Amino acid sequence: MLILAWLFYGLQICASAAVYSRGSGGHTTCQLRDDNPHPKQPGSRIPVPTLYSQRYSEQTFIGTHNSAAVRTPDNGWSISGNQYFNVSMQLRSGVRLLQAQGHLDPDGPDEIRLCHFNCALMDGGSLNEHLLAVKDFLETHRDEVVTLLFVNAVHGGLLTWIKAYYDTGLDLLSYSPPREKRGGAMLLDDWPTIDEMVATNKRAVTFLSSGADEDAAPYLLNEFDYMFETDFGIEAPDQYSCLPSRPRWPGSYIPPRLSLVNHFLYAKFLGFRYPNATYANTTNSAGFRVGELGEHAARCRSAYERRPNFLLVDFFNEGDVFDVDYGMNAF
Ligand SMILES: *[C@@H]1O[C@H](CO)[C@@H](O)[C@H](O)[C@H]1NC(C)=O
Ligand SMILES: *[C@@H]1O[C@H](CO)[C@@H](O)[C@H](O)[C@H]1NC(C)=O
Ligand SMILES: *[C@@H]1O[C@H](CO)[C@@H](O)[C@H](O)[C@H]1NC(C)=O
Repeated sequence: MLILAWLFYGLQICASAAVYSRGSGGHTTCQLRDDNPHPKQPGSRIPVPTLYSQRYSEQTFIGTHNSAAVRTPDNGWSISGNQYFNVSMQLRSGVRLLQAQGHLDPDGPDEIRLCHFNCALMDGGSLNEHLLAVKDFLETHRDEVVTLLFVNAVHGGLLTWIKAYYDTGLDLLSYSPPREKRGGAMLLDDWPTIDEMVATNKRAVTFLSSGADEDAAPYLLNEFDYMFETDFGIEAPDQYSCLPSRPRWPGSYIPPRLSLVNHFLYAKFLGFRYPNATYANTTNSAGFRVGELGEHAARCRSAYERRPNFLLVDFFNEGDVFDVDYGMNAF
């Protein structure tokens, strides 16, 4: 397993060099460096005041895919990273959903780490650090609501999740749906308004992709009881879909549940997928051409006959994701 991980790691290094040294000439060896990423400074979200009196389920929020997997000069701009700025910067800029994968490091202490696919490839820090960054933001921005979405790769480890929420105190700021709305009964009109969430100070909403038990922890919600997601794993700009993919529904039925629209593009090298950074400006553009976030969001809005709730992107600082956020929310 470890050998496989390192083999994969090595291939990623080669992929990195192959992709990023193209045109610069002379590089024949593999290296772990994207020498030329030039990440743009993040823009900022423009709040729409009238939406505070509307439901959580009536708004569009920008989300970051693999929010803790950050490319920095320190990790050689690792191509396992999906973002260029850490979660504190993401939140301060206006990202309102953070997606991440929780793993138990087999060689580490008994705590959850946020790694993409495998902790040997990219270790984005501990769950506790992540939750503390969210808590810090919520405490300094008292009318904001933040959603956390975790892929749970910790099998049978619900207690480890509960411990992290308890130790950081984020459990106290977390929203729990009414008991009778569990198990798929919570529809769009059952969600509180932002004003109500602010008044009760329950401003963190957490979903686990699997392994939730709302009797044990009523604030760790079973994602697919409340939300559907569109396809991910997109490898060409004309593949973005609006149809529910997880869970699937018959035909083109759109259930009255929260929607998460996956809008990030993969590049491929020797069969391995990694985020397509070079195209991110177009992928995250507010324009209405094929492959652009603006087009995808507008298409989903018309298919759903309401705002899509979460638009999940890589490299949120590129393009103009907050223009799309404003365009969705202001009209
Ligand atoms: C996050 O990034 C900002 C600037 O990009 C930096 O000032 C801050 O120290 C970072 N926070 C952490 C926890 O690394
Ligand atoms: C990124 O996507 C664009 C558009 O599909 C494509 O032209 C480009 O080759 C991709 N980049 C990589 C490194 O695959
Ligand atoms: C990014 O895309 C926009 C159009 O959506 C374009 O005007 C701009 O020049 C692009 N920026 C870069 C750095 O490619």
